Amino acid sequence: MTPTASLHDVPERLAAELCAADRWLVLTGAGASADSGVPTFREAQTGLWARYDPQQLATPGAFVDDPRLVWDWYCWRRELIATAQPNAGHFALAEIAKLKPELRLVTQNVDGLHQRAGSADVIEFHGSIERNRCFDCERPAAGVPVSSSGPPPCPECGGLLRPDVVWFGEAIPPAALEAAFAAAAKAEVYLSVGTSAAVYPAAGLAEVAAAAGATIVEINPTPTPLSASADHVLEGTAAAWLPAIASTLVEAVS
Ligand code: OAD
Repeated sequence: MTPTASLHDVPERLAAELCAADRWLVLTGAGASADSGVPTFREAQTGLWARYDPQQLATPGAFVDDPRLVWDWYCWRRELIATAQPNAGHFALAEIAKLKPELRLVTQNVDGLHQRAGSADVIEFHGSIERNRCFDCERPAAGVPVSSSGPPPCPECGGLLRPDVVWFGEAIPPAALEAAFAAAAKAEVYLSVGTSAAVYPAAGLAEVAAAAGATIVEINPTPTPLSASADHVLEGTAAAWLPAIASTLVEAVS
């Protein structure tokens, strides 16, 4: 008897391509953490940028204008993230990486959920909300007690501490940029997960991977600018499709 295909069975041709490829580049965005209860940015009703103005909260100018507002907003997000748990998609990606040791994982997320699910060597393209650094001298500041009552002073220079995230108008950390684009240039599979594929330079990784001949795969419940050129679009959530991909790989080796 032929088993009934479940809603999240990986199409056969894609399954074969995924099993055959060693060099995967996975780019995740806010949608990868949506099933953990962390809000995305651009979704019409629920996204953070529908409720807050990024120009007032996520730019260096915003911090200069009102450091307390910006700091306290990040404290609110930190608290939200601290209570969130990695979801099935995060765990599946860590499992996939065990089967595909050359996989590189690039995330635009600052929430640390991939690491908490067991992913190692995550390329943090937009930094991490868990760390702070000085706005003035840029030195990292670990172990400084933080609270939502404005930014504490830098222990080194007395400047104001800020979250170690990338704001609009700021450069991507050079090591992350270099590692991500190097991986894109030799990727056999490029997997875009839960990102609107709208923010550059991260969105440009797909173009580099496509030019290198990678199979382009997208997981997203709604179409993005990448969808039309992707080789495979898996419509749905990261928490549903990533475990399906992990199972496909496990079945292939057992
Ligand atoms: P966006 O909010 O732009 O996009 C989130 C994407 O996730 C959308 O395409 C949703 O359709 C999709 N999505 C929602 N729920 C999902 C689920 N359960 N599974 C899979 N996908 C789902 O977030 P990003 O693309 O991450 O940058 O945004 C990129 C950058 O823009 C962020 O890193 C942040 C933001 O402004 C900075 O703050 C610098």
